Amino acid sequence: MQKNKRLERIISNHFKIRQRFPLLEKDLFGNKRTYLNCGAGTITVDTAVKAIEDAARRSHPMPGEVYPAEIATKDLHWEVRSIAADFINADSPDEISFHLSTTNALFNLAFSFQKHISKKQNLIVTNLDHMANVSPWERIFGEEIGCEVRRARIDEEYRLDIDHLLSLVDENTGAIALTMAANAFGSIVPLKKIIAAVREKSPDCVVCIDAVHHALHGSIDVQDIDCDFLAFSGYKIFGPMLGILWGKKKWMDKLSPYRVETAKDISPHKFEQGMLNNAVLAAFKAALEYLLWLEKEVIDPQEKLNLDRRACFSKVMQTIEKYGTLLTKRILQGIQRLDPSRIRFLGITDLEMAKERDPTFAFEIEGISAAEVKKQLWLESGIQIADGNHYSAAVYRVLKRPSLCRASFCHYDTLETADIFLKALNEIS
Ligand SMILES: Cc1ncc(COP(=O)(O)O)c(C=O)c1O
Repeated sequence: MQKNKRLERIISNHFKIRQRFPLLEKDLFGNKRTYLNCGAGTITVDTAVKAIEDAARRSHPMPGEVYPAEIATKDLHWEVRSIAADFINADSPDEISFHLSTTNALFNLAFSFQKHISKKQNLIVTNLDHMANVSPWERIFGEEIGCEVRRARIDEEYRLDIDHLLSLVDENTGAIALTMAANAFGSIVPLKKIIAAVREKSPDCVVCIDAVHHALHGSIDVQDIDCDFLAFSGYKIFGPMLGILWGKKKWMDKLSPYRVETAKDISPHKFEQGMLNNAVLAAFKAALEYLLWLEKEVIDPQEKLNLDRRACFSKVMQTIEKYGTLLTKRILQGIQRLDPSRIRFLGITDLEMAKERDPTFAFEIEGISAAEVKKQLWLESGIQIADGNHYSAAVYRVLKRPSLCRASFCHYDTLETADIFLKALNEIS
C-alpha cells in the first residue's frame, strides 16, 4: 500500500481510533476536554483498562506448572515479554524485565553495574535527558564509584550537541546515557549515528537509552541502533504504569542487580523485585495489541495475514511517525502566524526540520506564568497541557527554570486538534 494511503487511513479513521480512548474527549467527571498531555501520560486504551479487571479477577498471583491458573500466569508473563520484545526488535523475550517505573528500572540497572565499572572510567550523561536517565548514573557511577561525570551540551534549538558529545568520548568512556527524544522539546536524537561514532572510540562502552518519550511516536529497533539497554514506560504508550527494561543478554547475565538471595539468579528474573503485577502486565500487552489492531484493522486490513508481529509493529510505528510529522508541520505553520513578541516556542521551529522532532511543544507567553497559562487554557478552552520542569535536565539545569508550558500530541489527535490549540494560544496572548 502506498505511503500516503496509509497516512490517509489514520486521518479518515480518526473517529474509530478515538473511540478506543473513552477518556480522550471527556474526563472522569464529565468535563469536555482537549487532552494535549500525552508527554505526561497517554490516555489508556479501552482494552488495556478491561485487561486490568480481567486479570485481577482471574489470574493466580504466582506463575507455576501445575494448576491451570498458575500455568495461565506463567504463560501471561512469557507472552508479555514476547510481545514487548517484538515491539523493540529484541533478540529474545528473556531480555525483557518489568519494573515499577522506568526511573526504578534505571536506578536498579545503574546499581547492578557497581562491580563492573572502575573509577578510571568516565561517564557521559546529557543535558537533553529526563533526569531519570541522569540521576541513577551520576549517583552510582559518579558519587558511589567516583567516575568522572561528563555532561553533553544542547544547542540553541534544544537539540543534542552531537559534536560536543563525541568530543567527550575517549577510550575510558565506560557508559553513556542518551534519550531517544527530549520530553520537554520533542527533539529526536539520531542514535544510530551517534552510537556508531561512540563505539569507534570506546567499543565496550555501555549505551543506555531512555525511549520513554519517543516510544509512542516512532519505531524502535534496538538491534539497528546497537545500544545495550533501553527503557520505556507503559503509561506513555496507551497502557498502565509500568517500566520496561530491555538489555543485551551478554550484559544482563553478567550484572548483579539488587536481589533477594532466594530469588532466581538468572535473567531476566534477577532484575525483577518481588512478584510481577499480573493485572498491569495484561494491560500492557493489550496496549501493544492496540497498535497491531491499528495496523491490521485500520491502516492496512488487506495485508493482515502476511505480516509477522515484528513487521507489523515496525510498519504501524513508521506510519504513526509520519502522522506525527504532519501534526508537527500543522503546528509549526500555525506558530508562524502567532505574535513572536508574545509567544515563544523553545525547540525546532523550522518546517524543513519537522522530521527531527516529535509533536511535543514547549512554549511560554510573555508576562504570564506557566501555571497561569495552563489554568487559562483549561478554563477558557478546555485544553489540558503540562507545566513544571518536566524533570528535564535542560529545563532544570540549563535554563534553570521552575516551569515551562508543554503541549504534547500523538496519533489519536486530529489535525483540527492542532488548530484548536493554536486558536486558544492566539486568544490568550
Ligand atoms: C523521557 C522520560 N524518561 C523517563 C521518565 C520516567 O518514567 P517513569 O515515570 O516510568 O519513571 C519520563 C516520565 O515522565 C520521561 O518523560
